[in-house]
Amino acid sequence: MYSSKLLAITCIFVVVFIQNCYADAISESDLRRAIFEHYDKLVRPVKNAATAIPVTASLYPVAIKDVDVKDHIVKLDTWFYVKWHDDYLTWDPSSYGGLEALRVPAEEVWIPDLTVYSGTPDTMTHPTVHTNVVVYANGTVLWVPPFTFKSRCPATENQVTDDHFKCTISVGSWTYDVTLLDLHEKHEDVLEAAKVEAFQDIHHEWTIESMHAKKGRRPSLKYVPVNHLFYQQAMHFYQ
Ligand SMILES: *[C@@H]1O[C@H](CO)[C@@H](O)[C@H](O)[C@H]1NC(C)=O
Repeated sequence: MYSSKLLAITCIFVVVFIQNCYADAISESDLRRAIFEHYDKLVRPVKNAATAIPVTASLYPVAIKDVDVKDHIVKLDTWFYVKWHDDYLTWDPSSYGGLEALRVPAEEVWIPDLTVYSGTPDTMTHPTVHTNVVVYANGTVLWVPPFTFKSRCPATENQVTDDHFKCTISVGSWTYDVTLLDLHEKHEDVLEAAKVEAFQDIHHEWTIESMHAKKGRRPSLKYVPVNHLFYQQAMHFYQ
C-alpha cells in the first residue's frame, strides 16, 4: 500500500516535471515553423492589399572605391540599411519562451526590390551577398547587406570644380509604386550615421565631405526614390 502511494506520487512528480520541461523548451525551430507555415514570400506582406508597405532605407558609405571624374561615375562600398514591416511575421514572445527575434536567411522572406536608379546596369540591383534578416516579434524586419555599386552622377552645374565632385544617388523600388511601397530615409545626415559604425576614410585621393538622404518630393513621381546627395573633396598632398 505504502509503496504504491509512493509510486503514484513519484509518477505525478515525474509527469509534472516533464510537462514543465516541455512548456519551457520552445525552440527557434518551433517558432519558425509556426510563423512560416503559410508564409508567401513572393507577395507584399500586408494584410490589407490597399495599404502601402512602409520601408526605411539608407545607403551607408563604407569606403570610396573609385571616382571617375571624366565619365562621372563613383564606385562605393556601402551597407544597405533596409527596414520594413511584415504583417505576417509576428508572434507573442510570451507564447514562444520569450523569443523576441529570429534570424533567418533573407531568401526566406519577402524583401523590397530596391535598386540604385542611378546605378550602372551590372551593379544596380539587389546586393548579391547573402545575409540574414532579423525578424522582430512585432513584425519589424531588418536587413543590412553589404552592397558595392557604381553610380552614374548625372552632369549638373558645378558638378566638378577643382577639388569637389557632386553626385546624387537615387534608391527606390523597381516595381512597387508609391501606392504599394512607402519609402523613407532613415537618417538625413548619412555620413554622420555611417561614421559611427562603418565609414573608412581610406581612399588616397578622395574623401566624402557630406552625404545627406532625403525622400524625393516631386509630386509627379510615381516611383519615389530616396536621394543621397554627396560631395566628395579631393585630398591634396604637398611635398
Ligand atoms: C519593433 O521591435 C523592435 C525591436 O524591439 C523595435 O526596435 C521597434 O521600434 C519596434 N517597432 C514598433 C513599430 O513598435
